[in-house]
Amino acid sequence: MSSYPALRLRRTRAADWSRRMHAETVLTAADLIWPLFVTAGESEEPIGTLPGVSRWPIGGIVERAREARDLGIPCVALFPNTPPELRSDDGAEALNPNNLMCRAIRAIKEAVPEVGVLTDVALDPYTAHGHDGLVDDNGYVVNDATAEALARQALVQAAAGADIVAPSDMMDGRVGRIREALEAGGYANVQIMAYAAKYASGFYGPFREAVGSSGLLKGDKKTYQMDPANAEEALREVALDLAEGADSVMVKPGLPYLDILLRVKNAFEVPVFAYQTSGEYAMIEAAAATGAGERDVLVLETLMAFKRAGASGVLSYHAAHAARLLNR
Ligand code: PBG
Repeated sequence: MSSYPALRLRRTRAADWSRRMHAETVLTAADLIWPLFVTAGESEEPIGTLPGVSRWPIGGIVERAREARDLGIPCVALFPNTPPELRSDDGAEALNPNNLMCRAIRAIKEAVPEVGVLTDVALDPYTAHGHDGLVDDNGYVVNDATAEALARQALVQAAAGADIVAPSDMMDGRVGRIREALEAGGYANVQIMAYAAKYASGFYGPFREAVGSSGLLKGDKKTYQMDPANAEEALREVALDLAEGADSVMVKPGLPYLDILLRVKNAFEVPVFAYQTSGEYAMIEAAAATGAGERDVLVLETLMAFKRAGASGVLSYHAAHAARLLNR
């Protein structure tokens, strides 16, 4: 008689119905936030390093928002490609209530009000030097003056109808300044999703092409974005942003930082979102293009991994494709 195990973990994996019944994590379209790029141009502009992703004029953005609604995706995230002639050292176009971002917000909120609109608060799509803030004579991104400008930018976006403002700049104290400005401005119900633990990463390349800042960026963002070596510091960043009034926090990039996501979730028990960045999207597409991996499997597996690690949701350029797979 063998004393082989009565405990056979493969038993529950033997049939599809049983695997579904024992799944510990559920991924649905409601877990997805779809990042969209807006162009001031007349027609769709494919982005070379992001195959399958385009910049859309406002009309196309509204169509994408309708598509999101029909797929059950609750929220879209907007990023503008500001025309070069409107970029300046101080990024003043960010404060123009009629800028491309604000026009896109208003168009979506008018046509598809039931879809949430998340807006990026940072100056990089508007500055001539490609940095997220104001730069001094030494090229240093100055903190407090930038936080002030960001609070005004957030207010302009809220006035246009943004539901969630998402500061992605990593200045100290900006969440508090934005929260104060929203309260004072009559936008108490506008949420703040703070890019709390955002790393100085090599995974943002295609995004910078998409918003048109890659050719402009002088130097790197290491004096404000986090060092990939650090995890404790991420917890301090999250603690500060929550204390300053963030409703939810984000960890970015995604897959290489699942340990951070899990630690943040365990330490704070607040809504945590992950950003599967442009470079991560490009890696999956590159693997699919060479046959090294299957796109649909990689997309669903990576998105599930974020949920398993504790994410409330994921920003992903694959959102619409994934929702279609999930809704089948
Ligand atoms: C800019 C911003 C970046 C991303 C979101 N907001 C790029 C950066 O910090 O340089 C990256 C998104 C992506 O790579 O998909 N504030």
